[in-house]
Amino acid sequence: MTAEPLERSLDRHDQLTAEAPFPEPPPPVLRTARIADLPELQRLDAEVFQEFAYPGFLLRQLFDMYAEHFLVLDDGAGRLRGYVLAGTTALDRDSWILGLCVTHDRRRNGLGRELMIEVLARLRRSGIEQVRLTVEPANRAAVLLYRSLGFRPEEPDGGLRRDYFGPAMDRLVLRLELGAGPLRPGR
Ligand SMILES: CC(C)(COP(=O)(O)OP(=O)(O)OC[C@H]1O[C@@H](n2cnc3c(N)ncnc32)[C@H](O)[C@@H]1OP(=O)(O)O)[C@@H](O)C(=O)NCCC(=O)NCCS
Repeated sequence: MTAEPLERSLDRHDQLTAEAPFPEPPPPVLRTARIADLPELQRLDAEVFQEFAYPGFLLRQLFDMYAEHFLVLDDGAGRLRGYVLAGTTALDRDSWILGLCVTHDRRRNGLGRELMIEVLARLRRSGIEQVRLTVEPANRAAVLLYRSLGFRPEEPDGGLRRDYFGPAMDRLVLRLELGAGPLRPGR
C-alpha cells in the first residue's frame, strides 16, 4: 500500500471535519388556520406560553368564532411555527389580538411582523376600526414589534393596568386605530 502524501490526507481530513453547509429551512407559509390544525396549535401554544397556554377547548371555541382572523405559519412538514389570532366585536368595530407567537428557532426573521401585518389587513377589510392588545410590560420584543406597527399605549397611566390578569400580573394595553389609507406601519 502506498503511503499518502501528508497534504492529501490532511486535505481529506479537513473535508471530513469541515462544517457541512447547512441550508436554511424554507420560510413557513402563512395561511388561515384549519380545524385539523387544532392539535398542533395546542402543542405550539403550550410550547411558547407554557402555564399561560389556552386550554384545548377554548382554542376550539376561539377557532369557531374567529377562524378568518386565525392565521398560522405552516412549515410544510407537519409543524406550525407561529400563529396570530384576533377576536372581533361588531360593537364599535372593535378587536383584540388574543395570541401571537413564533417558535424560538424561527424568531428574528420577520415572521411575527408578517403575521401581524396580515391580520391587521384582514381586520381592516372586515371593517374593524380599532385593535387592542395586552402585553407584559417586560416583553421587550413584543412591545417593540407592536410599537413599530403603530400601536400606542391606551391611556391612562401609559397603558399600564396593574393586576390585569390577577395579583402581580400587570399588563400594558396598547391600541391601534386602523385608518382608511393603506396599512403603513410606522417604524
Ligand atoms: C414577539 C414575537 C412574536 C416576535 O416574533 P419575531 O418573528 O421574532 O419578530 P420579527 O422578526 O418579525 O421582529 C419584528 C420586530 O420586533 C422587534 N423584536 C423582535 N424580537 C426582538 C428582540 N429579541 N429584541 C428586540 N426587538 C425585537 C423588533 O422591533 C423587530 O423589528 P426589526 O427586526 O426590524 O428590529 C416572538 O418574540 C414571540 O413569539 N415571543 C413569545 C410570545 C410572545 O411574547 N408573544 C406576544 C405576546 S403579547
